[in-house]
Amino acid sequence: MSKITAAITGVSGYVPEYVLTNKELETLVETNDEWIVSRTGIKERRILKGEGLGTSHIAVPAVKELLKKTNTKPEEVDLLICATTTPDMVFPATANLITAEVGAVNAFGYDLQAACSGFLFAVATGAKFVESGQYKKVIIVGADKMSSIIDYTDRATCIIFGDGGGAVMLEPNTEGLGIQDQILKSDGSGAPFLHMKAGGSRKPATIETVQAREHFAFQEGQTVFKFAVKGMADVAAEVMERNNLTADDVAWLVPHQANKRIIEATANRMGVGSDKVMLNIERYGNTTSGTIPLCLWEYENQMKKGDNIILAAFGGGFTWGSIYLKWAYDPK
Ligand code: UT7
Repeated sequence: MSKITAAITGVSGYVPEYVLTNKELETLVETNDEWIVSRTGIKERRILKGEGLGTSHIAVPAVKELLKKTNTKPEEVDLLICATTTPDMVFPATANLITAEVGAVNAFGYDLQAACSGFLFAVATGAKFVESGQYKKVIIVGADKMSSIIDYTDRATCIIFGDGGGAVMLEPNTEGLGIQDQILKSDGSGAPFLHMKAGGSRKPATIETVQAREHFAFQEGQTVFKFAVKGMADVAAEVMERNNLTADDVAWLVPHQANKRIIEATANRMGVGSDKVMLNIERYGNTTSGTIPLCLWEYENQMKKGDNIILAAFGGGFTWGSIYLKWAYDPK
């Protein structure tokens, strides 16, 4: 019997309607469109507005679209993993809220938190369930409502992040397509540079923590930038090298969208031209777990069966990694 690999057989995405422009940010913090565009590449981002709406309200429309596109009945789904740093609630898992909402009554589900590398880690994890031969339909969601943990008086973070997400279906493949290799890394000594100070078990919410604005993402941008440039470029180059891929062999680089300059540094290191780099940071900013599936969703019609694709991410933790996969279908 030929080896089972896990292949992406469909992709979907969802972004909320509200557009937060650089111009509007100029009214909230001391910044300007020119600075934001030149330092990050971001022009606007989407924000989920509305009382009582959480990350699941981004994920559910994406999963519904995915089920439709892949002709999958909700009852057929075996597993749903939701990569998110902004779960609807601390518990239960957002994955469970999603499966209930879409009617995936036979699926088990759980959340996976690896900050901006969450989607990548979740794809690698989900692939193992498929490769084992035990599960046939595994949905990986990457979604975040970053606006729920962003301080719109802090110009170091509020200009970067946005809300959005996407989903992919993983299914068994016997043609050798799908996930080929991955390198996943983490280093907890990076925690001081990108974290949320309160709201966890170390420092539960109190009036004081709220007053001190400790329930928002804190980032020491320059330090994270330096580690991100090195980390993302290192793993992307390493995954190419150990799979004997030259830049010509790579059809697409799908980078986490945190800063256009980090993306350019990664592409340069790989020797891959900008025409092969998926980019939507200009419109969505950094949606954390959402960036990579949103790219795949928007570029779906440009990928062909057999294309060599490199996913790469870097995020809080620190966490970083790269996945090499062969795209499994032609544009429909
Ligand atoms: O996805 C998770 C991982 N996160 C990342 O990968 C993000 C990595 N970091 C970054 O993308 C960048 O560090 C930022 C975009 C956050 C900041 O860009 P930077 O080029 O590192 O800026 P900086 O902090 O070094 O500041 C440069 C200058 C400073 O002014 P002076 O001291 O040179 O006069 C800042 O005060 O820019 C100033 N500045 C701003 N000016 C206008 C900092 N933030 C802003 C702002 N608007 N929003």
